[in-house]
Amino acid sequence: MAQSISFGAGVRSIVTGASSGIGAAIATELAQRGARLVLSGRDLVALDAVATRCAEAGAELETVVGDLTAGAVQQELVDRAVASFGGIDLLVNNAGISMNARFAELADEVLREIFEVNFFAAAALTRLALPYLISARGRILVISSVTGLVGTPTRSAYAASKHALHGLFNALRIELSGTGATVTIVCPGFVRTEVRRRALRGDGSPQGNDDAEGRRMMTPELVAHRALAAAARRRRRLLLGAETHVAHLGSILVPRALDALLAKAGR
Ligand SMILES: NC(=O)c1ccc[n+]([C@@H]2O[C@H](COP(=O)([O-])OP(=O)(O)OC[C@H]3O[C@@H](n4cnc5c(N)ncnc54)[C@H](OP(=O)(O)O)[C@@H]3O)[C@@H](O)[C@H]2O)c1
Repeated sequence: MAQSISFGAGVRSIVTGASSGIGAAIATELAQRGARLVLSGRDLVALDAVATRCAEAGAELETVVGDLTAGAVQQELVDRAVASFGGIDLLVNNAGISMNARFAELADEVLREIFEVNFFAAAALTRLALPYLISARGRILVISSVTGLVGTPTRSAYAASKHALHGLFNALRIELSGTGATVTIVCPGFVRTEVRRRALRGDGSPQGNDDAEGRRMMTPELVAHRALAAAARRRRRLLLGAETHVAHLGSILVPRALDALLAKAGR
């Protein structure tokens, strides 16, 4: 599994959703590699625990506690990176929320909330960070999902928000060509985190359990490592997990069979 990750020493990084799961693992690995970090999340206690772990690994860091959908929080993340570290080399757009409901039962506010966090917050933060990323010939790392490639039942808004990320960041990658700044989109399959427990039901309440419990899942540490290695190499896209490869290839080669398979799984 070990792949070399060479960002250069002291890489100035913003990581959203750093208080849990994949974001916490990305922050920890970056800290171990000597990065300087601005970490974001809403849960003060959880974010502090990750920050302590990163500081113990020797990282210089700042934390910004707050809802990432707020413009002031997005601005604060960029301002802290610039004030404390003088710029931004790596922006990790990782924060996200999922759902579990049939589309007919999905309240409009829940559809919009999922887009606010997964899409609009990442878009706005990226635009604020862009001048610094360009001047540093930096990297944008986007944590999408297998659902960014394939629509899956009971995850309609989640899949739509992840597809939207692909549209935005694929376009931005091309706009950035010649600047030295690059975009890497990572699409993991199942990862053992809190995301399904926190997933929103149609009425906006958290579902409270992991509906994929019992499945084989990747660890957040593996995903973090592979995602950072891909960004370091300035890869365009990385698919992670057998289910992601099967779904992606299936959607191209045997789309009807894949629909049938997903319909059965989503029942
Ligand atoms: N786990 C999987 O199976 C899987 C698979 C594919 C893709 N992904 C993607 O991986 C990313 C990370 O998810 P995870 O699996 O690590 O889930 P997680 O453990 O639930 O972590 C989600 C993170 O996002 C943050 N977040 C959510 N809403 C936020 C908001 N409004 N403002 C600020 N921060 C917010 C959370 O912070 P607070 O708790 O502090 O609010 C938390 O740090 C997501 O984009 C998810 O879609 C996950």
